[in-house]
Amino acid sequence: MLAQLDQLYADSLAQLNQAESTAELETWYKAALGRKGSVYLMTRQVGQLSAEERPAFGKRINAVKQELETAYEQRLAELRSAELDALMASSAIDVTLPGRKQWHGRLHPATQTLREIYRIWGDMGFQVYRSRDVETDEYNFELLNIPQDHPARDMWDTFHTTTPGVILRTHTSPGQIHAMHEYYPEPIRVILPGMCYRYEQVTARAELQFHQVEGLAVGKNITMADLKGTLTDFARRMFGAHRQVRFRANYFPFTEPSAEMDVECILCNGDGCNVCKYTGWVEILGCGMVHPTVLRNGGYDPDVYSGFAFGMGPERIAMLKYRIDDIRYFWGNDLRFLAQF
Ligand code: DAH
Repeated sequence: MLAQLDQLYADSLAQLNQAESTAELETWYKAALGRKGSVYLMTRQVGQLSAEERPAFGKRINAVKQELETAYEQRLAELRSAELDALMASSAIDVTLPGRKQWHGRLHPATQTLREIYRIWGDMGFQVYRSRDVETDEYNFELLNIPQDHPARDMWDTFHTTTPGVILRTHTSPGQIHAMHEYYPEPIRVILPGMCYRYEQVTARAELQFHQVEGLAVGKNITMADLKGTLTDFARRMFGAHRQVRFRANYFPFTEPSAEMDVECILCNGDGCNVCKYTGWVEILGCGMVHPTVLRNGGYDPDVYSGFAFGMGPERIAMLKYRIDDIRYFWGNDLRFLAQF
């Protein structure tokens, strides 16, 4: 019977080594070492042995069990690691595969342009001053020297509210009056950014809402030379150190004299293209010396104080810079547009 046991051991070991997968190995385990496996069945035969033979047989069968268990554990470890390698190689996880593209949120092109404008004016000592979007007729027009029925009101088509005299601001200029009321009698150097609203037909060039950045400097002895020098410096910081600018006389009710500033076309460098309509120049802002009436409305005596003001449209500037031909893209929320910036 010992010989039979040795044979069983040898056969079991041989079969164990033939198992090619963990599944086959489990089948082997049941057949050999399971509760009704061959080793167990062999144990039951102990009864047929004589009392002298039993201890040697018992000892041997325990050793066989032990060795088969050890061999099983070892083979199991080998097969598991081989199966894992095969799984890795066959595609479940490919560590060489490039990662999936991550989508990043980003700042809106109008915000990016606004922040660049803030930075430049900040470097020149101008603080950001915010004022309300919902204005009164008084601040939006009258205190800016635009009385009722003044023909210049046609320049600003207005959204009215159901409260008489309360409107959405059509420009950031009313902030000038708020700033003057708050700072008087100190000198002022502020920019006033914000959203403006106009009751207009929406076209490629006009939106219902858009940003403006207003600027205001008030003090003693501020002259037109300060206006020209400061705005020229702004244009060069914004559009390039060697940009030419020019000032053209214009009319605004709240400044006297008034002007518009053109900058050499940033797309063709002044050679002429469809964006500058082959003139070589693009208009980027309105400006002027604060009208004495407006200074007085802000609380500053125009015989003692003077100042300059300007207003620009960041979306317009971004359109020039990035050759955007339709202002409606800005608030269209089309990711194909926004993701380009
Ligand atoms: N408020 C003007 C507009 O909406 C822009 C402007 C022009 C602002 C001249 C100014 C200025 O401060 O001096 O068209």
